[in-house]
Parts: sequence; C-alpha cells; structure tokens
Amino acid sequence: MNIKRVKLFLGTIALGFIGTASAVADHHGDKEKTPMQKEFKIVSSKLKYLRKLDKEDKGYYADAAKAVREAGAAMLRTMAYSPSMVKEMPDGDEKSIALADSRRLMGLTYAILCEMEVAYLKKDDKLVRELSKKWKGLKKEGHKKYKADD
Ligand code: HEM
Repeated sequence: MNIKRVKLFLGTIALGFIGTASAVADHHGDKEKTPMQKEFKIVSSKLKYLRKLDKEDKGYYADAAKAVREAGAAMLRTMAYSPSMVKEMPDGDEKSIALADSRRLMGLTYAILCEMEVAYLKKDDKLVRELSKKWKGLKKEGHKKYKADD
C-alpha cells in the first residue's frame, strides 16, 4: 500500500468515528421526553409568551388571560405524573412524602395560575406582578427538590 492509500484509509476510519460520535450526540440530544416534561414545556412556553405581548394592544388582557389559562391547563396535566427522580426512590415514607409534597407544589402553582387569569381579566397589573413572583418561587422550590439535573 502506498502512502497516499494509507492516508486515505486512515482518513476514512477517522470520518467513521466522527460520524458515530455525532450520531451518539444527536441521539442524546433527542432523547425521549417524559410526558411530565412535555407538559412542563407547554407551561413554560405559554408563560414566556406573556413577555412578548404588548400592553398597548387592544387585546392584551384577553390574550394574556388565555395564555395563562393554557399554562394552567398544562400544569394540571403535569399532576397526573410523578417526577422521574421520585419514581426511582425506594418505596417507603420518604418516597410517599416526596410524592405528596411535589403534588402540593404543582397544585399551588396551578391555583396561582388560575388567580393570575382572574387578575388579567380584571386588568389588575399589580396583582399580576405579585402572582408572577409566587409561581416563580414555587417553580424554584419544585425544581430544587424534584427535578434531576440535566
Ligand atoms: C410555572 C412553574 C413551572 C415552570 C414554568 C416549569 C418548567 C419546567 C420545564 C421547562 C421543565 C423541563 C422540561 C423539559 O425537560 O423539556 C420542567 C421539568 C420539571 N419540573 Fe417544572 N416548572 C414549573 C413548576 C414546577 C413545580 C411546582 C414542580 C414541583 C414538583 C416542578 C417539577 C418539575 C420536574 C420534576 C421536572 C422534570 C420532569 C420529570 O421528572 O420527568 N416544576 N419544568
């Protein structure tokens, strides 16, 4: 085998490795989301949408109320599931408490989103701000306690 052919041969092997590595990376990035994660993604995108709305628009409060209502509907659906992290715990009191406590946090968040819908419909900006702080606090607590690091 001459030098040129050896180089070509090694190059082909190297490309094969790169291909395999990127296929693994793609597969990892594309990993199946849990049903709970899918619902949380909806909650999150509906709440992010609020930031895009312009207060000067005529339909502002109605649009915001609708987005919060949809966020709440997805939040309610998350409650049908258990955090992956908790599911992996061995059966016992600690797990039962974690399941009940995570439902408590999701339920409180749901209630806050319902209150926020009312606040938007009443055009009460001050109340909306207060309630936004509350769901953010609950999210922080929920993720700190029950969301596994990515
Ligand atoms: C409005 C408040 C909240 C928002 C916007 C939010 C948003 C999110 C987002 C974006 C994800 C990642 C989804 C993905 O991987 O694609 C997630 C996952 C998760 N969140 Fe939240 N979250 C909120 C409140 C909470 C609360 C109160 C809890 C309490 C239990 C919680 C527990 C979790 C868990 C456990 C996961 C991982 C799902 C799994 O284990 O399968 N989140 N959340």
